[in-house]
Amino acid sequence: SRQWRGVLREYADRLDISAATPIITLGEGGTPLIPAPALSARTGAKIWIKYEGMNPTGSFKDRGMTMAVSKAMEDGAKAIICASTGNTSASAAAYAAHAGITAAVLVPEGKIAMGKLSQAIAHNGQLLQVQGNFDDCLDIARDLAANYPVHLVNSVNNDRIEGQKTAAFEVVEVLEDAPDFHFLPVGNAGNYTAYFRGYSEELARGATTKLPRMFGFQAAGSAPIVLGKRVEHPETIASAIRIGNPASWEPALVARETSNGYFGAISDEKILEAYRILSAEVGIFVEPASAISVAGLLERAEAGQVPAGATIVLTVTGHGLKDPQWALRTADGSDVKPTIVAVDTAEVASVLGLAKA
Ligand code: F0G
Repeated sequence: SRQWRGVLREYADRLDISAATPIITLGEGGTPLIPAPALSARTGAKIWIKYEGMNPTGSFKDRGMTMAVSKAMEDGAKAIICASTGNTSASAAAYAAHAGITAAVLVPEGKIAMGKLSQAIAHNGQLLQVQGNFDDCLDIARDLAANYPVHLVNSVNNDRIEGQKTAAFEVVEVLEDAPDFHFLPVGNAGNYTAYFRGYSEELARGATTKLPRMFGFQAAGSAPIVLGKRVEHPETIASAIRIGNPASWEPALVARETSNGYFGAISDEKILEAYRILSAEVGIFVEPASAISVAGLLERAEAGQVPAGATIVLTVTGHGLKDPQWALRTADGSDVKPTIVAVDTAEVASVLGLAKA
């Protein structure tokens, strides 16, 4: 028996690492690709969910962070820095803790989910809440990395994209080819770019017969790529993708062009509807930003753009426990009220609607 060794060791032949690279890993990657019959029934396509919430810190960021922190250590870095809407900060703090170095993380004040904030603090990150949005945080992080001895681990660092491309390798291993479509959330468009790179490499080495059409989705209030212009004041309840000026905008446009892909915008209401469908009908709990993959699928199906029988992979990027408050609200916006019962079997049976056998 052996356990999964993390993406750097599993894919050492396809990443720029050497014997001199210290491997900083928490066992990331190797996440399940789960069939979603309820979504297949709704759309007529074959739907698979790549459940990235199963990574060590609960998001896909760990794939890029193992690479970025390992390479930073190889370069002798003593401190890393990132801007984040929450997941990158959680991942950076965890991998820095494991490596024995410092992580400074800049997050927009009051705009990141409680689970992610707790992680950054638990892993001893130097957490600063900046009185601005994510885009302001990234500007400062880039400035600091250019002028001070700190190593930037945002996805503008190519090592992050390199690590994240391994998710495409895993999909190809399971399906034994690329899917026809790949749907995913878009914030900085780093992950969209990374999957495209991974699939392109698989095609180049003959492991697949095609590129998937890359379909990326932004929240309607934070949709710069869809609008074709920077959004100064991005808004959405999907705090992970509340980004107005994506760092990987240019490569994402190339990926869309080359793969005959698509970028769409989805309302917060539709995101939350998909969030409920995914948890209640498929059994997969994600944070709202991740549910946009499902919302995008349902929107495209409704628009008649999902061919019957197509193989479609949806990446869901972060775990539902990161930001669970949304599960405690009903579709009409009221709070879910737990039912309280006495210590009484007959009463519990009656409330559950059970008739005696
Ligand atoms: N989904 C989740 C859960 C995320 O945390 C992010 C990005 C994305 C999707 C979008 O990925 O930026 O590569 O297009 N979160 C970053 C962060 C910005 O700081 O955690 P992207």
